[in-house]
Parts: sequence; C-alpha cells; structure tokens
Amino acid sequence: MPASTSSSVERFDDKARNAFEHAGKTTVYRGELLRHPVYTRVLHWAVALFFFLALFTGFGIYLPWLFRWFTPFFGGGPLSRVMHPYFGVGFVFCFGLQALNWLKPMIWTAADSRWMRNIKGVVSGEEKMDPPDTGFFNAGQKVQFWEIVGGCVVYLITGVVLWAGARTFGRIPVAVSYVLHDISALIMLGGIFIHIYLSTIGEPGTFQSMIRGAVSEAWAWTFHPAWYKQVTGRDPQQDCEEARRKMNSSTKPPKQS
Ligand code: HEM
Repeated sequence: MPASTSSSVERFDDKARNAFEHAGKTTVYRGELLRHPVYTRVLHWAVALFFFLALFTGFGIYLPWLFRWFTPFFGGGPLSRVMHPYFGVGFVFCFGLQALNWLKPMIWTAADSRWMRNIKGVVSGEEKMDPPDTGFFNAGQKVQFWEIVGGCVVYLITGVVLWAGARTFGRIPVAVSYVLHDISALIMLGGIFIHIYLSTIGEPGTFQSMIRGAVSEAWAWTFHPAWYKQVTGRDPQQDCEEARRKMNSSTKPPKQS
C-alpha cells in the first residue's frame, strides 16, 4: 500500500479510536495489559450483531423448509427477505471499518509462516505456550481475518446482483451469484464456530478482551509472547517461570519443626 494511503488510514483510525475512548471506558488493572480499545470492541460487536441477523434472515431464504421457524422473529418470510440485504450491508460496512482498524497487525509475516508449519503442536495442546515470535494476532487469526475480507467482497458483488435481480443482470449471473453467496456464507459460518470456541472455552481469558478490553499478563505471555515482550519490554518465558516459582512456593505446605 502506498505510504500516503497507509498514513491517511492510520489518521482516520486514530481519530476514531480517540473519539470512542471519550465515550466509553477501559479499566486496566495491575497485572493486566490493554488489548482492545473501545472503538475495536464496538465495531467487533456491531459486526457480530449484523452477521447473525444476516445469517438468521438468510437461513429462512436459503432453506425455508428447515428454517421457516426463524422468520416470525423478523416479521415473517417476505419481511426477512426485505431485511436480509440491509443486515448484509451493515455487516460489510462495520467489518470494512474493522479491517482498516486492524490492517497493520493483520499483515502476514515470516513468523506467521513458521506458526502455520507448527500448527499441529499448537492445536493439539502439546505446546503449552505459542511460539515466542507470535505477535498481537497469530497466523490462525490472520487467516480467518483475510477469509472474512474475501467473503465480504464476494457478498458485496453477489449481493448487489441478487438484490437487483435477473431483470438487471440476467439469469446466469443471478444463478452463479446464488451459489457463490451461499458457499461464502457456509465457509464463514464454519470459521465463526471455531472462532467462538477458541475465544471462549478454547483459550480461557480471551473473551474478556472484547468485553473489558484488557487481558492478564499470563494470557499475553501464553498466547502472544512477542506482543507481551513488545509492550512490557520483559522476557515472556522468564516471567512465566518466575510466576510459576512464586505459585509453587506459596502453595507448598509450611515445614514441620
Ligand atoms: C458471539 C460470538 C463471538 C465471540 C464470543 C467473539 C469473541 C472474540 C474475541 C474475544 C476476540 C479477541 C481475540 C484476541 O484478542 O486475540 C475476537 C476477535 C475477532 N473476532 Fe470475534 N467473536 C464473536 C463473533 C464474531 C463474528 C460474527 C465475527 C465476524 C464475522 C468475528 C470476527 C472477529 C475477528 C476477525 C477477530 C480478530 C481475529 C481473531 O481473534 O480471530 N467475531 N472475537
């Protein structure tokens, strides 16, 4: 990206982050680090809300015989059909802002290619900590982010074709758009299931980063050691061992005399 474009994106993001920080609040306690500011959290939950609204109205259109029971929540089948593209536009718009907000930390690096080669060790839980060069986002998160960016482009193009219909675009483009639109939705849905699992049960302590905006230092040195080192200036491995030593000595029963 040209330097002038990237600096105007940064200026736009900084302005938005400052404006939202005045409207909301992030408390970071001792032993914690700031992970996601108010702007990021508001965008994330707006994206999630529009995603699920578009998904549920979309299900009623995609497989009415199976998901007809969703449609009364949206005022019936015809109204679900009318509302679905608006929810879709809301999703793509909010995710577009989030994509600008996360453009820098989502850039692929050599460390991400190494993380991918070692994915078996990370996913199987054989390795207790992520590789030491794992930064703010790991490679798995970046893959999902870029998949959603690609998905948004597909939704936007195919969605406009489906919205305007065969009278404007012809029958074949509409038929192709149906297939691409639905494949994109199914891929994204599969990714979101994994995302929700990892952000809650799979990696405990992650969920609070999108609620309160802060994470524990232990969470940071476990899942994002290079980011921990970058923000604290301390060695994640050493701090982890130190914390473990302290915990063991405080849980040891006192010596009997
Ligand atoms: C209710 C469901 C959801 C929960 C509980 C959830 C939770 C989270 C959390 C805790 C993070 C921060 C991860 C970190 O700091 O490392 C995050 C990040 C993110 N979320 Fe969600 N999220 C949900 C739904 C969604 C939806 C519907 C989308 C988009 C369609 C989405 C897209 C993202 C992306 C792209 C990131 C950054 C990369 C990543 O962590 O994978 N999320 N989410």
